[in-house]
Amino acid sequence: MDGLNRRDALKASGILGALGALAIVSPARAEPWTWSPQGSVAGSGSGADPMTVWDPEADDLVAGLIDRGEVPRVNELLRTWTRNGQPLPDGLPSDLRDFMEYARQLPQWTDRAKLGTAIEFNKKRGLYLGVLYGFASGMMSTVIPKEARAVYYSKGGQDLKDRISKTAKLGYDIGSNNAYGPDGEMVVTCVKTRLVHAAVRHLLPQSPHWVHSAEEDIPISQNDIMVTWHSLPTTVMKHLTAWKVPIPPHESEAFLHSWQVAAHMLGVRDEYIPNSWPEANSQAAQVLDPIIAATPEGARLADRLLGLGANIDFAVLSKPVLGSFTRFLLGDKIADGLSIPREPVWDPLLRFSWGPFIAVREGLLTAVPPAADAYWLLDEFLRKAALIYLAELRMPISIELPTMNRDM
Ligand code: HEM
Repeated sequence: MDGLNRRDALKASGILGALGALAIVSPARAEPWTWSPQGSVAGSGSGADPMTVWDPEADDLVAGLIDRGEVPRVNELLRTWTRNGQPLPDGLPSDLRDFMEYARQLPQWTDRAKLGTAIEFNKKRGLYLGVLYGFASGMMSTVIPKEARAVYYSKGGQDLKDRISKTAKLGYDIGSNNAYGPDGEMVVTCVKTRLVHAAVRHLLPQSPHWVHSAEEDIPISQNDIMVTWHSLPTTVMKHLTAWKVPIPPHESEAFLHSWQVAAHMLGVRDEYIPNSWPEANSQAAQVLDPIIAATPEGARLADRLLGLGANIDFAVLSKPVLGSFTRFLLGDKIADGLSIPREPVWDPLLRFSWGPFIAVREGLLTAVPPAADAYWLLDEFLRKAALIYLAELRMPISIELPTMNRDM
């Protein structure tokens, strides 16, 4: 019996969850993996399909912590570890401490000057970045089927608002002053997230709900991480370029660099991290574009995301307006898949006025009435939409290792 059939049989008999997924072979990708490691920051590599690679160093370690019941104590200790330059707290299990000391090191190809420029870029373009991380990347994550299912059936799926805040934290940390410096928080966020992902790899195969809906046997492969990665910087840069926001090449490179370092710190092998925007775009065309699809789990996550504006109570951020913005950013196919209704006023407004509005904001065009009124409305929208995303960060956020799946 091949891996897939055996898995189907196990699914039918409900044994798979109890057994865990260790011995089971993942289904192959539809198209062979052809992206060359020559286009990576490593410049070479084995060329192994990243769909068959996870994070063995972290995975074995964290599975052990969960099985030995050590996670609650570890979470408590790690709550105090918030700054990159801070020593690890005393009392951590020694294997975890060793791993974290190793995992917190920035890659040797880190370019501090580029990271400095990235901070400038983030400051300058914070408004656009906030809106794009929230609504282009955030909504896109709901139509990445494997991610949507993993998030929905994991513990975090229970409290989606909390889950969204925590993911927003990473977008915030990477853009903040000193992101990777000793008083920044990005290294801490990445190392903790790497551990959380390892926990999810151990736990989700024990969820009958996940097992019944997922195609893969073990979640969050290196391929999956790069898919999500492309929903972040690659997608954000694609929109900024489409909006014709003027970005000098050294800023665009620096922004990419800050995300290359993030991928490394999340445990992605250097041979899968693109070394340039053209390489990133070519990898995204292979791993992200073909897999985008709506799922029932993703549609529920999207609905929650579109409802976030209601907490802030600005009419310009009502669910229909955010839905229309999603349609504008991600296209009709995705919007229809997520059952986002068409909006007779906002859909055409965004389609025809967003480009000129950005040109006016950037000083490339002068607004003339009556278009100026529409631009005022769009400006209001832009600033408030970025706020929703930031509002999710008001509370101190602590990324913690889960010990169980969602309680369905
Ligand atoms: C947790 C970011 C890729 C599924 C997290 C957390 C962050 C994060 C910041 C911690 C938040 C929390 O504890 O809820 C990222 C980034 C990624 C990435 C930046 C890629 C660049 C993925 C992928 C999947 C995934 C590919 C699934 C296919 C999850 C799940 C959790 C999680 C299930 C745990 C939620 C919980 O139960 O607490 N991720 N992630 N992530 N991530 Fe990711």
